[in-house]
Amino acid sequence: MSSVRRFYDDLAPGYHRIFQDWDASMEAQARSLDPLVGAALGAGPHRILDAACGIGTQAIGLAGRGHRVVGTDLSPRAAARAGTEAAARGVSLPTAAADLRALPFGPATFDAAVCADNSLPHLLTPDDLLAALTGLRRVLRDEGLLLLTVRDYDEARRTRPTAPPPQLSTDTDGRETITLQLWHWHDGGERYDLRHLQLTGQADDWRVRERRTTYWALTKEQLTGFVLRAGFTDVTWHAPQSTGFYQPVLTARRGPGQPVDSAATVRAHR
Ligand SMILES: C[S@@+](CC[C@H](N)C(=O)[O-])C[C@H]1O[C@@H](n2cnc3c(N)ncnc32)[C@H](O)[C@@H]1O
Repeated sequence: MSSVRRFYDDLAPGYHRIFQDWDASMEAQARSLDPLVGAALGAGPHRILDAACGIGTQAIGLAGRGHRVVGTDLSPRAAARAGTEAAARGVSLPTAAADLRALPFGPATFDAAVCADNSLPHLLTPDDLLAALTGLRRVLRDEGLLLLTVRDYDEARRTRPTAPPPQLSTDTDGRETITLQLWHWHDGGERYDLRHLQLTGQADDWRVRERRTTYWALTKEQLTGFVLRAGFTDVTWHAPQSTGFYQPVLTARRGPGQPVDSAATVRAHR
């Protein structure tokens, strides 16, 4: 099992505790992302794939706005929870476990493909990134919309933070969770190992859980280059000030014809 899958399988039951109020975050994120979908594709509803849906933070909100959303994720536990959480909110969200690099859908199945909250930077090599992006392009119809959200790594590559601010949340039963991240930058400053610590408890009864993973801190220029090589056009970066989304958002269109990097297409289907 990949270490990324293990990380998110283990985190899935408590993933909502990363947010102060997960339902409010889902609503706010859909409020920011849905207008980008509408601006590109017109009034919906649209067929949307959330290809790194996790427990459904974006997928549930978009499905709640009337789109026909399918959620997939490397983590079977996260994808299963996304389906359950959607059903609990009266929203239809078919989900499945799937790797971004081998999406189990036919060509032109979707109008839009979403991959949000820094999921792509889990892929650590150019081959893997291109396999994922050409796969996303394959499942989109002509002129379909790609929507990615990632951390602002241009800034992080300059400042090399080692401990972003902690996040706090409180469950309805009063249990608190403090989520801490510790970043260890690799030589060269492009990738970093992340130690993810969650302290959960109340009064004098606390438990600590540690999980580890690695990210590629892709700059906007690097990610734009990969998106173009995978055969997308009209690449646009949207700053948080314009969308209200907490991370930069990249949108692009499925261009016609073959991807520029046709070798990547071959790798995507290997
Ligand atoms: C930070 S979480 C974001 C999840 C969700 N978008 C959200 O905001 O709640 C990153 C997600 O990317 C998924 N992921 C990482 N690598 C993946 C891959 N190769 N294929 C599919 N999903 C992947 C993880 O399993 C995880 O659910």
